[in-house]
Amino acid sequence: MDPNLENKVAVVTGGSRGIGFAIAEALARHGARVVIGSRNAADLAQAADALNKLAPSRVDAVETDVRDYKQVERLMARAEERFGGLDILVNNAGIGLFSPVEEISPEEWDAVIGTNLTGCFYCVRAAAPRMKRRGGGYIFNISSLAGKNAFAGGAAYNASKFGLNGFSEAAMLDLRYDNIRVSYILPGSVETDFAHPGGKREPGRRSSWKIDPEDVAQAVLDLLRTDPRTMISRVEMRPSQPPRK
Ligand SMILES: NC(=O)c1ccc[n+]([C@@H]2O[C@H](COP(=O)([O-])OP(=O)(O)OC[C@H]3O[C@@H](n4cnc5c(N)ncnc54)[C@H](OP(=O)(O)O)[C@@H]3O)[C@@H](O)[C@H]2O)c1
Repeated sequence: MDPNLENKVAVVTGGSRGIGFAIAEALARHGARVVIGSRNAADLAQAADALNKLAPSRVDAVETDVRDYKQVERLMARAEERFGGLDILVNNAGIGLFSPVEEISPEEWDAVIGTNLTGCFYCVRAAAPRMKRRGGGYIFNISSLAGKNAFAGGAAYNASKFGLNGFSEAAMLDLRYDNIRVSYILPGSVETDFAHPGGKREPGRRSSWKIDPEDVAQAVLDLLRTDPRTMISRVEMRPSQPPRK
């Protein structure tokens, strides 16, 4: 148990797998109550079951598409109804789409921006008043090194993550005097299903050089432990030894 996290209530978007699952697990293990939200109901239920085995009765789940403001409101409301408030928001839900700019359909563009950028705004918009009622809170936005390094084929994804960085900095300035801290984390390659669209990694297959989702979760725990007088607003994380080019 972590005294900083006992009696705290967190919402983690995209908590059914990958980085979001690892963050939800770390928070619940250390004493927080956690509500996870993502779209696929079966995956979400399976994740909540697994988390409740590790941290009995500390995890709830709400089927949520972060592109829909009503669904986002329902997710935040669940944290209050079930656990009494909202202290921590982890904006993690995200999708990748990697195609040359002239091949991206308007629908694909909307899906990427809607999930990775507008979805974060919706969550902050719905969470901030609830945090104010608790006297403060902590918001984490999971960005990417793709939010500072553009690459060919990355127009939609780069735009969403560059945008998320600017959004995070402005939101930090808006919310700091309400005792709400905002940090954004820019990981490089993390070992998840993310880069395997339409499918999952083969079971047991992993690239030893990549960041583990648990390492991102550890960064979130470390930031939460930082004295409230200090805000580490931007964190870059990269594999120590990626394959040489
Ligand atoms: N993996 C990497 O190398 C890497 C590197 C840097 C940054 N990131 C960022 O880290 C975050 C998590 O990535 P990950 O690697 O853990 O991906 P992942 O394994 O594909 O998991 C993504 C999660 O987001 C959920 N999700 C997707 N669209 C959603 C929506 N519209 N509403 C609600 N939930 C949604 C997914 O569940 P459903 O599909 O069921 O909704 C799933 O729970 C993303 O923001 C990504 O951009 C990843």
